[in-house]
Amino acid sequence: MSDNTVYRASTTAPVNIAVIKYWGKRDAALNLPTNSSLSVTLSQKSLKTHTTASCSASYTGADSLLLNDEPEDIQSNKRTQACLQLLKRFRHDIEVKNPSAPKLSTMPLKLVSINNFPTAAGLASSAAGFAALVRAIANLYELPHTPTQLSLVARQGSGSACRSLMGGYVAWRAGTARDGSDSIAEEIAPVSHWPNLKALILVVSADKKGVASTAGMQTTVETSTLFKTRAESIVPQRMEEMEAAIHAKDFAKFAEITMRDSNSFHATCLDSWPPIHYLNDVSRAAMNAVETCNRKAGKLIAAYTFDAGPNAVIYYEEENEKLVAGVFRYVLQQVKGWEGEYGAQIPSNEQGGLEAKTVMTLKAGVSRVICTGVGDGPERVEEHLVDDRGKPVRI
Ligand code: ADP
Ligand code: DP6
Repeated sequence: MSDNTVYRASTTAPVNIAVIKYWGKRDAALNLPTNSSLSVTLSQKSLKTHTTASCSASYTGADSLLLNDEPEDIQSNKRTQACLQLLKRFRHDIEVKNPSAPKLSTMPLKLVSINNFPTAAGLASSAAGFAALVRAIANLYELPHTPTQLSLVARQGSGSACRSLMGGYVAWRAGTARDGSDSIAEEIAPVSHWPNLKALILVVSADKKGVASTAGMQTTVETSTLFKTRAESIVPQRMEEMEAAIHAKDFAKFAEITMRDSNSFHATCLDSWPPIHYLNDVSRAAMNAVETCNRKAGKLIAAYTFDAGPNAVIYYEEENEKLVAGVFRYVLQQVKGWEGEYGAQIPSNEQGGLEAKTVMTLKAGVSRVICTGVGDGPERVEEHLVDDRGKPVRI
């Protein structure tokens, strides 16, 4: 009798936002970076991907992914294929060692995933998405691999995804091996070490990005003269300083490195040819507002950082919530996103000394805020997005 069981496993995975940016590949096929990077994993109470991996001998056709209710073409996506092939090989090794283990590696995979936030809009959906895909399949295949070992797989889906397999504060070591075997992510401190780090995201644009990160970083590597110094000497030193700042919970140092590294990354973008512009007037108004908060406090209590788009992520410590997030809450009280566990506790402050022009630009350009903080890594869940007969379900 044939085994028509539908095997299922589900997980959620977080977004991460780098404070030392990954920008540049030394090997595009293996997705190996030119420099190490470091990120903060954000709480899944705010942003998360939920993915179910299922397989069955009764499934027909090729492996498939339903993303936000739409079929995603994974057959021609080399990166997704690289992840699936590696995970299937790991499962195959288990099946060879244990002949009574079901032959899951030979069954078609049906993957269903939902992002609870805009996809491909500069909010790191690829990071949460590939981390969830890899974690869900690893759970399905009962792989014994650690998150660090799985980071090698997720990295091939999207570089930043390797950092979303862990919670808290995570470093992705660039490594030097040509096969990428030492290009891995590791948790440098858990959430519990520094749990009061908060993040306020100003969503400036939820549209698709202008220049996708993969293409943007290739242009920078090929054309920017500033880039080499950044990758070879600036980032290695910053990685050490940032790790020390995190271990010491030294927010002022954390903030300085975060802002300088974001600026350095965007400087190499501007130095690329043709130049790449990710920041806009609203981003610059957010930078200005953060600088004003810091000036008013007489010390660094807030840090901005920007990925490959205009959205601002502002890190601060909970004790300074009123002085940082409170000012943005006052200025942006008309926009959505202040509700929810993180937002509800933010007290509205006064204008905090922001210039009228900064206030006007923020009011006109910020469409939504996301209130969040440092959070845990992927969590196994029993809510499956595929039913026991293999049909997709909505939760
Ligand atoms: P973002 O800024 O949101 O990371 P990218 O353009 O870099 O945007 O990446 C978006 C791509 O990441 C999607 O087109 C898809 O291929 C992949 N992706 C996003 N979410 C998921 C998911 N939940 N599961 C699998 N892949 C995903
Ligand atoms: C600016 O991880 O999206 O967000 O590996 O080509 O998929 P690929 O790139 P991706 O790049 C992220 C770039 C960044 C910085 C960062 O997250 O470190």
